Amino acid sequence: MSSEIKAPVLKTAVLGLGRIAWSFHIPQIICHPGFKLAAVVDPLPERLREAADKFSPGACFTTCDEMYIKLKPDLVVVASPTAFHKQQVLQAFEHGCDVFCDKPLSLSLEETDEIIGAMNKYGRKLMVYQPHRVTQEASAIKSILSEGLLGKIYLIRHSVASFNRRSDWQAFKKNGGGMLNNSGSHFIDQLLYLNQSKFSKINCELRAVATLGDAEDVVKTVITAENGVIMDLDINMAAAHEVSPWYIAGSCGAAVFDPESKEWNLRYFEPAELARINPQEGLAAENRSYFNGETIPWKTKVISNKDFPEIDFYGKCLEYFAGGLPPFVPVSETREVMRVISECRRAAGCGLLL
Ligand SMILES: NC(=O)c1ccc[n+]([C@@H]2O[C@H](COP(=O)([O-])OP(=O)(O)OC[C@H]3O[C@@H](n4cnc5c(N)ncnc54)[C@H](O)[C@@H]3O)[C@@H](O)[C@H]2O)c1
Repeated sequence: MSSEIKAPVLKTAVLGLGRIAWSFHIPQIICHPGFKLAAVVDPLPERLREAADKFSPGACFTTCDEMYIKLKPDLVVVASPTAFHKQQVLQAFEHGCDVFCDKPLSLSLEETDEIIGAMNKYGRKLMVYQPHRVTQEASAIKSILSEGLLGKIYLIRHSVASFNRRSDWQAFKKNGGGMLNNSGSHFIDQLLYLNQSKFSKINCELRAVATLGDAEDVVKTVITAENGVIMDLDINMAAAHEVSPWYIAGSCGAAVFDPESKEWNLRYFEPAELARINPQEGLAAENRSYFNGETIPWKTKVISNKDFPEIDFYGKCLEYFAGGLPPFVPVSETREVMRVISECRRAAGCGLLL
């Protein structure tokens, strides 16, 4: 779709030349014909020099103020540390630019509402980069959920686990760090996107365990959606063992993901094939048995991630920012992610117990 769009090339400025800008945004901007890397902004002159050598941007600036004096980009990509997002998004809107912002959009629901207010006031476009919507894994899950073999889905459990004594800015509360903001903004968005239902109830615990900072590196949250699905999310950076990443359960079966083979193993039954069993009336279990003797006619199916394409996110950006199509990540969905994050903090009492 993106390559078919006959639209003007978007003059694009990237704010921040760190991990995500360097490894993803700038290479994508350069390789997509719909974008031109008009400017980069970073307070570190050595990073600007490095960017000039490697990517030949139109111009390099140490501040956004300097950039807006010289240049009016069509699109501003915000890839700076999270604490700067709100101010940089608002400034871009004030200068008549649209914004593609890395996750999380801001530090809080209040900041997010301020940003949405400004977006409406200035009539600008805004989309947040949520890469976990476009993975093969996400497409495979969508297919499993829509195929219906598992019956009525009641549980989606996702665990992200590793051992990482985090020591960068993301480890500190004062920077808007912590795994709820950092990884939660990925995986909460992914769960809400896959389940397509707003949340109705949240339980959450936050702990700072292995981190060298003061922000949480263990997040345990159970989000109940309006459609009744329980979304059980663990983000654990203090995990000595690997944890099974996905378990999806429905009334007729379940799917587990094998991270080695990248395959989903489904075990399910056809409801029509179950034997008819009458519930026991009496208060003495028959045959002193805990079981009713039935054999479930299990079926199995294997689904591989490799059978699903990855979606090109910058193609989606072009469709929205230049092609006039609806946003792939609507801002209302971003607000819902920020609402869940805010509720998680409230439910956890913001307590960080060691
Ligand atoms: N979507 C993803 O997969 C993903 C992955 C990593 C990070 N992120 C998000 O991207 C943002 C950046 O994270 P990172 O890991 O790339 O950070 P980083 O620490 O690697 O880099 C931050 C860069 O921003 C620069 N910077 C600092 N202050 C700035 C300012 N006021 N204006 C412009 N640049 C400034 C720094 O000099 C540095 O070059 C964060 O919000 C983070 O949550 C998203």
